[in-house]
Amino acid sequence: MNKSIFQVEQIIKNLSSFQDKIQTLLVLGSGWNKVIENMAIEKTFIFEKIFGAGAGVLGHRGELFLTKMGQKYFWIMAGRFHTYEGFSSEEVTRPIQAFAKLGVKNVILTSASGALNERYKVGDIVVLSDVLTLLCQSPLNGASFQDMSAPFDKDLRKIAVKICQSNQIEYQEGIYVYCKGPHFESFADKKALKILGADCVGMSTVPETIMANFLGLKVLGLSCVTNLAFVKHDHQEVLANAKKEGNDMKLLLTQILQNC
Ligand code: HPA
Repeated sequence: MNKSIFQVEQIIKNLSSFQDKIQTLLVLGSGWNKVIENMAIEKTFIFEKIFGAGAGVLGHRGELFLTKMGQKYFWIMAGRFHTYEGFSSEEVTRPIQAFAKLGVKNVILTSASGALNERYKVGDIVVLSDVLTLLCQSPLNGASFQDMSAPFDKDLRKIAVKICQSNQIEYQEGIYVYCKGPHFESFADKKALKILGADCVGMSTVPETIMANFLGLKVLGLSCVTNLAFVKHDHQEVLANAKKEGNDMKLLLTQILQNC
């Protein structure tokens, strides 16, 4: 497959007139798009033009927004790149690398995931406490011995949990495991992942989390449970179940952004 994403320098060049004062990047995964409804959008960019590739997955809009809330500006990527689309682990993190160079300090990564933990219900928002990286090729090269003892920022996690609690949003705190896909995991895979200690499984988030840690960014990971562990499911169902949680997702993210 010969798809590729622009080099970091090119992405920076495409966005260089917007580098001031934008502290936070929000990445919207499958089904999280509702958050941009009614937001004050200052500017919209098409992924192809900025990053060199479009979003190839149903449920990902493939647009980058510069938004404003109060006096603060935010970058919002509606969609992301995945290794299952043929990109390398490093390539899918190029937007993160570029935004870090443009001054971003906080990254909020959202996704859909399948439950492995039997206590989890469809619609729960998982505030990620850790990631299982064993199945993920590192986006880092060479002797980059990045510490991963606390991949998610303690304060951002606390803020997310507090907002869930005060708005009766059903949430969990748990461990996300990355599987490249694009096939969904077999029941045997899920059994094994559960034994390894994971609570939910998805096909994104981990390369970006590793890179963001390497770049010294604060990271928050949120994943919406769209299907249960040992139940047959498909991508349409994943999107439909994520859509049902749209109002909670919007409320949660809007309040988190106000605290960033
Ligand atoms: N597995 C992997 N990715 C997913 C799943 C799943 O069960 N649900 C939503 N994204």
